[in-house]
Amino acid sequence: MKIDGVSYRTVWLSEGRVHLLDQNRLPYAVEVMQCGTPAEVAHAISTMVVRGAGAIGATGAYGVAVAALQAPEATFHAQLAHDAELLARTRPTAQNLFYGIQRVLDAVEACGDDLRAAREAAVAAAQAVADEDADACEAIGRHGEGLLEDGMGVATHCNAGWLAFVDWGSALSPIYAAHRGGKRLHVWADETRPRGQGARLTAFELGQEGVPHAVIADGSLGAWMRRGEIQAMIVGSDRIAANGDVANKIGTYMAALAARASGIPFYVAAPTTTIDPDCPSGEHIPIEERSGEELSHTWGWSDEGRFVRVRTTPEGTRCRNLAFDVTPAGLIAGIVTERGVVAPREVGSLRSGG
Ligand code: MRU
Repeated sequence: MKIDGVSYRTVWLSEGRVHLLDQNRLPYAVEVMQCGTPAEVAHAISTMVVRGAGAIGATGAYGVAVAALQAPEATFHAQLAHDAELLARTRPTAQNLFYGIQRVLDAVEACGDDLRAAREAAVAAAQAVADEDADACEAIGRHGEGLLEDGMGVATHCNAGWLAFVDWGSALSPIYAAHRGGKRLHVWADETRPRGQGARLTAFELGQEGVPHAVIADGSLGAWMRRGEIQAMIVGSDRIAANGDVANKIGTYMAALAARASGIPFYVAAPTTTIDPDCPSGEHIPIEERSGEELSHTWGWSDEGRFVRVRTTPEGTRCRNLAFDVTPAGLIAGIVTERGVVAPREVGSLRSGG
């Protein structure tokens, strides 16, 4: 991905520190946050400095690698287990977080008591998680591009672009591939309240990529579909159950219902690392509930360049803030993975190696 012509990854490890493009500052400022300890990495994940399934997964993996580099010899395994647990407790829904953490723990485990080898294996495994995420997302672009035809209006929800992964993105990767291949698309990005990932991050990415787009209010998606402006919808996912039910950012389920009612194909794009083979169906997916303050307040930059946080509800109002919902497999036309486009009922076999 390129921001103002400069190549970036969303997350990377350098000199034993995890580097993150600070997504709470985007699109107002492009800043890199450095985390030097597993606790700092965990804090960055829970406060959404880094967010999005693949980016969280790589950050969790790098966090365990940092833990392996820093854990004292005498308490190495206990300290590593403690730090991995700290990282795993940050966001409950994103399957890639658990995948990334476990990949690095497994690599360490394979080294037994050879701690020098274990530290090297941890860094190598974390780097592999990040590199494979980028490669998978690039392949998702190639496989998904064929679903999008010249002249289409394409809706998306939240941000499942390069900022949500190590590079390329999931839902936006086919859009970028089609756009680079000369197809004229128009993207309809809904705001994605309460944190505004669509308004802030997807709009930022699409602007950087030169893809024509408009930000629309969350509640207006169905109306734009009924007006004939949207011919396909594609979203990302935070966890996919073995039966093809998909957890994604809150509002996805309503968007899928609107798409079904309007006769518009609704696609999900995700690397196979997002599939949870141990989760039989959507009702078993743990859904994160975040602080009600994300609803009672909003934030951004004033025209004078000041960061401002303002209240949007009467003081004392109780707010409930589900971060994700589940879209049943039956509403999904296809799931785009790095291994091709599959029917939702087939995803379980992809992750179990079938
Ligand atoms: O809470 P977030 O921003 O980490 O949410 C995750 C997401 O980015 C979305 O749900 C996205 O649509 C799928 S993950 C790339």
